[in-house]
Amino acid sequence: MSGTNVYAGVSDRMETAMSLPPAAFRDKAVFEAETDRIFRRQWMPVARVEQLAEAGDFLTLDLAGVPLILSRDEEGVFHALSRVCRHRSMPVAEGEGNVKAFTCPYHLWRYGLDGRLLSAPAMERSEAFDQGKCGLPSFAVDVWQGWIFVNLDEGAAPLAAALEGLTPLVAEDGLADMRIVSSLTFPSPWNWKVLVENFIESYHHIGPHAESLQQSNPAFGTYVPELPEGTNFTALENPPVEGADPFSVYVGFPAFLLVVLRGETTSAVWYRLDIRDEASFDLTINILMKEPEASDAELVAGTAEVLRHIHIEDIAVCDGVQAGLSSPVAAAGPLSHLERGLWHFHRYLKRVTGNG
Ligand code: FES
Ligand SMILES: [Fe+2]
Repeated sequence: MSGTNVYAGVSDRMETAMSLPPAAFRDKAVFEAETDRIFRRQWMPVARVEQLAEAGDFLTLDLAGVPLILSRDEEGVFHALSRVCRHRSMPVAEGEGNVKAFTCPYHLWRYGLDGRLLSAPAMERSEAFDQGKCGLPSFAVDVWQGWIFVNLDEGAAPLAAALEGLTPLVAEDGLADMRIVSSLTFPSPWNWKVLVENFIESYHHIGPHAESLQQSNPAFGTYVPELPEGTNFTALENPPVEGADPFSVYVGFPAFLLVVLRGETTSAVWYRLDIRDEASFDLTINILMKEPEASDAELVAGTAEVLRHIHIEDIAVCDGVQAGLSSPVAAAGPLSHLERGLWHFHRYLKRVTGNG
């Protein structure tokens, strides 16, 4: 099996839904097709607005193999720019920081925060040089609830349309007023879908989280709320036992992984995936809070510790699944009704890869 026909067998009915065939996780050809049809065509969350608070702030990232700069110009407008110099392809920026312009370290061509070429030394004798045509290519950027999304596809539909169904579900949570208060990073040697699938079901609270989440939000009480047909996201409610807090899990497909914790105050957790190849990504677990909780160092440190502990429990099963998928006799297995979100995910994959 190669390419995206691994999704052709996704069931139209939850009652007959199966996990994906192992090839969907391990084949390079599947990942290349996903890069082409998903990561380079869909809205991908890359940062929060508070990470680029001032004019001139920038950060760099690689999205679906495209080296990018995310910048904020003097008017407060965000830009997603190719990071590759238009002269001879040197990256014009690394890391993050605050600048007035991007100067390529090789021959000092200078680009504005919006990607326009501002100057290029000793190019006046070149008849091939047209300053107006040598800007850094730029891509679509949009903001939702404080998240900056990028879409590499010129013809992409607006972000609001992609997140239409999700917006009302978090309308009261004040996500736009939150800021990242702590971040945990984990190199993750798994196919990206291993984590997405782990994230959207709480069936596994009875396994790796038996002593943690199963005690506060038991697996069998979790459920997927009624969602419109053919959505680009899924949701999972996690009702608490008495004295604990409820939380909701949202996954905007393909990989916007969000938890909203609604206790006395509301906070959120954003799992940001930097997807590298079919068997690895870098994970950053970001904790988001509003004031005054955001300034409570003890609360922030305690929350980070809980999340680290829970993720370490998840690492054990994600490591196990990734290894198990490479067995020659590994095969798709039937899904529980508690894994409805996986079925939503699989149907999305089938649809956007042209198999549905
Ligand atoms: S490669 Fe950037 S100025 Fe030459
Ligand atoms: Fe988990």
